[in-house]
Amino acid sequence: MIAILGAGKMGEALLSGLLRAGRAPSDVVVTEYRAERAAELLEKYGVRAVSAVEAAKTADTLILAVKPQDMGVLLDELAPHISADRQVISVAAGIPTRFIEERLAEGIPVVRVMPNTPVLVDQGMCVISAGTHAGEEHLARTEEMLRPVGKVARIPESLQDASTALSGSGPAYVYYLVEAMVDAGIKLGVPRSAALEMVIQSVVGAATMLKETGEHPVLLREAVTSPGGTTIAAIAELEKHGVRAALLAAIEAARDRGEELGGR
Ligand SMILES: NC(=O)c1ccc[n+]([C@@H]2O[C@H](COP(=O)([O-])OP(=O)(O)OC[C@H]3O[C@@H](n4cnc5c(N)ncnc54)[C@H](OP(=O)(O)O)[C@@H]3O)[C@@H](O)[C@H]2O)c1
Repeated sequence: MIAILGAGKMGEALLSGLLRAGRAPSDVVVTEYRAERAAELLEKYGVRAVSAVEAAKTADTLILAVKPQDMGVLLDELAPHISADRQVISVAAGIPTRFIEERLAEGIPVVRVMPNTPVLVDQGMCVISAGTHAGEEHLARTEEMLRPVGKVARIPESLQDASTALSGSGPAYVYYLVEAMVDAGIKLGVPRSAALEMVIQSVVGAATMLKETGEHPVLLREAVTSPGGTTIAAIAELEKHGVRAALLAAIEAARDRGEELGGR
């Protein structure tokens, strides 16, 4: 039995992925205090909402998907009811496994996961790290659970704030870029819907090229950058406006904010 504690945006995304991957609704429970949200989840997915205490007593895997600031209260509620034969998986940004381990009984395996929202369309990126008591078996189980909703990679926990900044927030940077490119099309007189279609398909096409050819992005970019041509005129402007430096600084700022939220 898997319990998802906190059925908000990410909890629901993971829930729907588990069910799409073939897990039976009777094998999953969620915790949800608001009656109408619990009814909605039951109707949409056929999963039951239970109390945190019941989830801790019955599930062998507990997925913690509450906001980082709610984690302490949730752990205090769960702690007396979780034994060391359970596995805890946390998807909270910035919360170290140590924070969770200190609040639970000794020896409970904890795996930290940084997912991103494309798990909703089975194209997520989940980056996982083991806590002190989690071994190969727990990482493998977490990978098996997450693989149906996208890619899974292992990294040392010391790089989790960096992965939050890169892939956790990554989709937002792409949406921001799409928005700016559509604005550029509108400035040039292209109707909004046509501009959006052109930009989205360019992003999908470029992402598919990166994924399927396995070529380095520099080589793919060079293939569309002819001498004295249009693309190099655009790249020169991007360089002039410091877009590469802005991305380096932006992702570093996201990493620093993650550390701050985690209390470091
Ligand atoms: N969204 C993303 O793109 C994303 C990406 C990577 C990681 N994450 C991580 O995923 C976690 C959840 O984020 P989210 O965006 O899904 O937030 P969210 O939509 O606000 O979901 C959090 C849910 O937890 C519930 N909750 C709060 N305290 C609880 C408790 N003590 N017991 C049970 N449920 C409780 C909330 O219920 P109420 O609304 O009734 O308070 C809400 O439904 C965060 O830790 C975040 O860092 C999110």
